[in-house]
Amino acid sequence: MNAPLAYLQSRIATPPELAIVLGSGLGPFADEVENPLVIPYDEIPGWPRATAVGHAGKLIFGQVAGRQVAVMSGRAHLYEGHSIDKVVLGVRVLANLGARKFILTNAAGGIKLTYSRGALVLITDHINLQGTNPLIGPNDDSLGPRFPDMTFAYAPALRELALAQATKLMIPLHEGVYAALSGPSYETPAEIRYLRIVGADLVGMSTVPEAIALNHMGLQVLGISCVTNMAAGVTNERINHEEVLETGIEVRGRFMQLIKAVLPGL
Ligand code: HPA
Repeated sequence: MNAPLAYLQSRIATPPELAIVLGSGLGPFADEVENPLVIPYDEIPGWPRATAVGHAGKLIFGQVAGRQVAVMSGRAHLYEGHSIDKVVLGVRVLANLGARKFILTNAAGGIKLTYSRGALVLITDHINLQGTNPLIGPNDDSLGPRFPDMTFAYAPALRELALAQATKLMIPLHEGVYAALSGPSYETPAEIRYLRIVGADLVGMSTVPEAIALNHMGLQVLGISCVTNMAAGVTNERINHEEVLETGIEVRGRFMQLIKAVLPGL
């Protein structure tokens, strides 16, 4: 973590207070950043490359809605073959640069039947089914405790703020539990029935490692999913990545409006 941290410290004039991780299809939020300093991931030593389609692979520093932000446009996923350490490296470095609150966004499959394609869902909690955890291994006591509490993994105060802003903007915002699997295959209908029974409302392949690493560091997380498709077997349709990206494009106006409205209160 030292090399990317030192490199970014040498590049930025003002440290970020807040960080936003953009999920599939949300890349254009990067254009909302004022006075942007854009740093492609491949210029940052030790930073994992974003290989997923729909993920740009750049860091943007600047201001949005009057706040000093860092935007990660593109993230590393386990399914790309990155180690779990690399998956959380970005958020750890941004935290070490100064970011104290994180907005994690993602594209997700909708399990809860009251959701529909395009719905925005505030993550209230998660279920880690990725079979790994970024904190496995010797604990780095300078980051946080060996056994971090996850009771309020998605900060209640930030959730209240997001719900209040969504109401004000008349943007429907659902709430739900996000289950993370490793991917990259989408789930089978049987897996989706299983996930529903164990209490998942959404399913995806990201966010959970980052939320764990940030809670470990004592930082606050706001998680928002875009339901880009109903999960396998909910409808008769097949799932494809093009649909996931298309829905992201349809929804991102609302999504960006909501994030911008939340930022001043963070
Ligand atoms: N499953 C897992 N991840 C996803 C999905 C899905 O249906 N849609 C978008 N990301």
